[in-house]
Amino acid sequence: MKDNNSDPDLAGEVDEALAAIAKVVSNRELEALRVSYLGRRGSVTERLKQIGGLPPAQRKAFGQKVNEAKASILAAIKARAGQLGERVRDEELSEDAIDVSLPGRNANQGSIHPVTRSVRRIKNIFGRLGFDVADGPEIEDDFHNFGALNIPEDHPARAMHDTFYVTSDLVLRTHTSPVQVRYMKNHELPIRVIAPGRVYRCDSDVTHTPMFNQVEGLAVGTDVAFSDLKGILIYFVREFFEQDLPVRFRPSYFPFTEPSAEVDMGCVFCDSKGCRVCQHTGWLEILGCGMVHPEVFRHVEIDSEKYTGYAFGMGIERLTMLRYAVDDLRLFFDNELAFLNQFR
Ligand code: PHE
Repeated sequence: MKDNNSDPDLAGEVDEALAAIAKVVSNRELEALRVSYLGRRGSVTERLKQIGGLPPAQRKAFGQKVNEAKASILAAIKARAGQLGERVRDEELSEDAIDVSLPGRNANQGSIHPVTRSVRRIKNIFGRLGFDVADGPEIEDDFHNFGALNIPEDHPARAMHDTFYVTSDLVLRTHTSPVQVRYMKNHELPIRVIAPGRVYRCDSDVTHTPMFNQVEGLAVGTDVAFSDLKGILIYFVREFFEQDLPVRFRPSYFPFTEPSAEVDMGCVFCDSKGCRVCQHTGWLEILGCGMVHPEVFRHVEIDSEKYTGYAFGMGIERLTMLRYAVDDLRLFFDNELAFLNQFR
């Protein structure tokens, strides 16, 4: 800024000031400029102080010019302050803005546990055959788990079940067969029901876990024959494995069925040719079954002269392993995401 006392024309100074004001980008710089022009020692303020030293005739005109200069600088400062405020607001707004074109974060999707998946498929297949679904307590009394199923105390069959005892009379059920007993006691005939659920055996190695799942099946009526049992089981195996597999019935023994059978299906790993999984027999054992023993009917007060029934029981983990070619039972209980994610 020129410091020419004899030239009261402030136009040059004002232009310079306005140009400087237009360039500032922050309120702090703007305030510094205001002080340098209009503050107590500001250049424009200094001009006003010169008035007293002028000849009286010039004072009025000079004073007017300085005041005009002051007014236009002040107006420019206010205008710039307004612009800067808007800029700050714009910046804040653009920082907060949501970019709708950004790709979202991937949500991790869970999956149905393979055992649950099998239970659902089993319910669905037997549902189509008219079977109801039931369940029962996992802590059972001796009567329902053993006695009513024709396994009296000291019966050698008790040794087949490695039982967890809760008290001398209560056990963790070793199979789902006690649900047969409960269901027959509480329902009118004819009966057609499946009962999936957890069972417990004191056993643990590569092919056994202390807890696993079974599904029980039961049909009772005036006209229930072994051929019906064969029919529904063959249908079930082919639906569950979605293959036209060979199925065979082998004579076996269970205290609560007579006659009893075990069911094998053709090995899904080698097409029945013989491999390590089927121990080179071409067959895989998948379930136990038979006609309900008259002694079981007697315990639930069903007349075995009038009614017959069949029952079957199978291990759900085993079916699932065969269905999805899982070679280690423990994978179902480890909850490894890498394993479970394959069942999405
Ligand atoms: N409860 C038997 C088991 O756990 C299976 C079975 C059920 C057999 C029903 C025959 C009839 O091995």
